Amino acid sequence: MEIAPMPVAAAPRRAEIVPIRRLLAPVLRDPVNMLADLGRQASGRILRIRFSPSPLYLFSHPDDVQHVLRGNWTNYRRTGMFWRPLHRLLGASVLSDGPAWQASRDILQPLFTARHIASLTEQTAAAIDERVAELDEYAASGRSFDAGEEMADVVNETVIKVLFGGRLSREDGRRLSPAYDRAARSIAFRLLLPFVPYSVNLPGDRTFMNSVEVIDEVFLPIVRQARAVPGSGTDVVSALCRARRDDGPAAERQLRDDLVSIYGAASESTATTLTWLWPVLDAHPQVAARLRAEVDEVVGTGPVRAAHLPRLTYTKMVLQELLRVYPVGWLFPRTAVEHDVVGGVPIEAGAQVLITPYATHRLDEFWDRPLEFDPERFSTGRPERHHRYAYFPFGGGPHQCLGQHLFYMAAPLVVAAILSRYRPMLDGGPCTPAPAGSLRPKEKAELRLVPVRREEAGAR
Ligand code: HEM
Repeated sequence: MEIAPMPVAAAPRRAEIVPIRRLLAPVLRDPVNMLADLGRQASGRILRIRFSPSPLYLFSHPDDVQHVLRGNWTNYRRTGMFWRPLHRLLGASVLSDGPAWQASRDILQPLFTARHIASLTEQTAAAIDERVAELDEYAASGRSFDAGEEMADVVNETVIKVLFGGRLSREDGRRLSPAYDRAARSIAFRLLLPFVPYSVNLPGDRTFMNSVEVIDEVFLPIVRQARAVPGSGTDVVSALCRARRDDGPAAERQLRDDLVSIYGAASESTATTLTWLWPVLDAHPQVAARLRAEVDEVVGTGPVRAAHLPRLTYTKMVLQELLRVYPVGWLFPRTAVEHDVVGGVPIEAGAQVLITPYATHRLDEFWDRPLEFDPERFSTGRPERHHRYAYFPFGGGPHQCLGQHLFYMAAPLVVAAILSRYRPMLDGGPCTPAPAGSLRPKEKAELRLVPVRREEAGAR
């Protein structure tokens, strides 16, 4: 693999070449941080990575990210590396591109407006409170548990329950979460070696396809049942069924693709972000103390309610900073359709462009002490960001995440519900990012819960 920083002058000069032997080991060891380090060393300049038969570029400067995601977005499609292997799971859905994406986006958009999501808050808060209370079992026994698994269960049985109109059972969720997790992890080789044809087996291929089978086993009966009896509700399943009623047999596949994609986008991203929270709080006791103080003041000992949400301001800042440091959608490449020139650098038709908020969020040129976790950056009194695309955990432009309002409605309520009842203690060390379809911790985050009331009573 060779890396060449591209000059930003109008006439490109010959680029500096970094020899393959300097990059191969970091790629295999830690591709996530390798890309971020490359972006930082180049101060956000466009880099050409000579790694695959088609040209591959790393764009980390906010101007260039904006150009791809918004300015000239029709020239940059969700095809090629990353999307091609994922297509076997997601199909032609709201997470694809072109007419299939547009049709799904048009149906789904009204279900994700700030106003519509606000109307779901009371119901979601009650579901969260009820589900989080089940963690009492861990608190009573002192037994530790895998935060990743438990966060996935909590999100499934609350946020997803509301979003999917109760059509996914607890058992469905418990089959789906590990299947998506295995799919995201097992795709790593396909992401790192996108030019290897599917006729050549790579490690992880079989696990990936087995996960797709499990996901289909859960979703296909739900799709068939929903098409037979499309509900009248505003949940995503009913809305998609009603909108596609006339589409004939193709509608079954279409509905399956959209539900598999939305579930992945909504459940996995929210649960994984909430999983990162606990090791980060463990490493930053002052942030943890301030977060607890806010929850104590706003929610007390619960139950958490919709009315608490606007006052959970520090909780929101912590989540914003968590998404800066650990943006679960860490990589979403594009393929250039036609030749383009970006910041003076010619980009060939067919070139792959890597967009990674993990790298842009760490640029010294746009962030003060970018490697430090500091929620204060997001306080209203300290607007540190100057460029819209210096921070884009939810993407941007026409493909901007549909679930942003849902995330900022549900995630603070989950955090507040947990902290109003328990003091979570991390068993084990810090977590580091694994190379996967989404940014997941390599290590398990094991948690123990100490009930709040008992601990506080002892302290007084
Ligand atoms: C921590 C939470 C989340 C993060 C970090 C996140 C991140 C992202 C990112 C980066 C994209 C853009 C991908 C691209 O441009 O190629 C995206 C798209 C999307 N997200 Fe999210 N997401 C989150 C939660 C959610 C939730 C809760 C939903 C709920 C349904 C959701 C649904 C979607 C959908 C449908 C798209 C595709 C939009 C389109 O292409 O038109 N996401 N998300």
